[in-house]
Amino acid sequence: MKINLIALIATAVLVTACDGTPGDRAGTEQASTEQAAVAASDAEMVVYKSPTCGCCNAWIDHVREAGYEVEAVDVEQYAALAATKEEEGVPGDLGSCHTAVIEGYTIEGHVPAEVIARLLEERPDIKGLSVPGMPIGSPGMEGENPEPYDVIAFTEDGRREVYERVDPR
Ligand code: CU
Ligand code: CU
Repeated sequence: MKINLIALIATAVLVTACDGTPGDRAGTEQASTEQAAVAASDAEMVVYKSPTCGCCNAWIDHVREAGYEVEAVDVEQYAALAATKEEEGVPGDLGSCHTAVIEGYTIEGHVPAEVIARLLEERPDIKGLSVPGMPIGSPGMEGENPEPYDVIAFTEDGRREVYERVDPR
């Protein structure tokens, strides 16, 4: 398989940025738990991530708290993770640290559980959702200066639009 070099580099950068435990991110758990009080689907989610990704684990905790069944799959190599993103239809510039799949939809990066719930309820004709990069204030990326960010819907044929604007402040 041919792997997009840009996607590969982006994945390496993001996964490296994500390494370690999210030590300073404590104290924000209450907020994510409150937000998590939305109905979760019975569907199982599979999450592909680097074994050392601390913020990935924090995000997985967030979606589990929201009631989702999550199978976490550790992917050792950046190239393999980049290949997974490509297989799951994630545009190179919309990449983040981990890639999840639920009910045929791709969930890239730190997408809030309540936005996933909205997706599974509305079932739009899209490939998936992404929170590109790793914005501070998104679930699993809690920090001191949270910033608003967009959840982007993308399609297989290259269309994209803002699905939801999230302001965690
Ligand atoms: Cu991350
Ligand atoms: Cu991650």
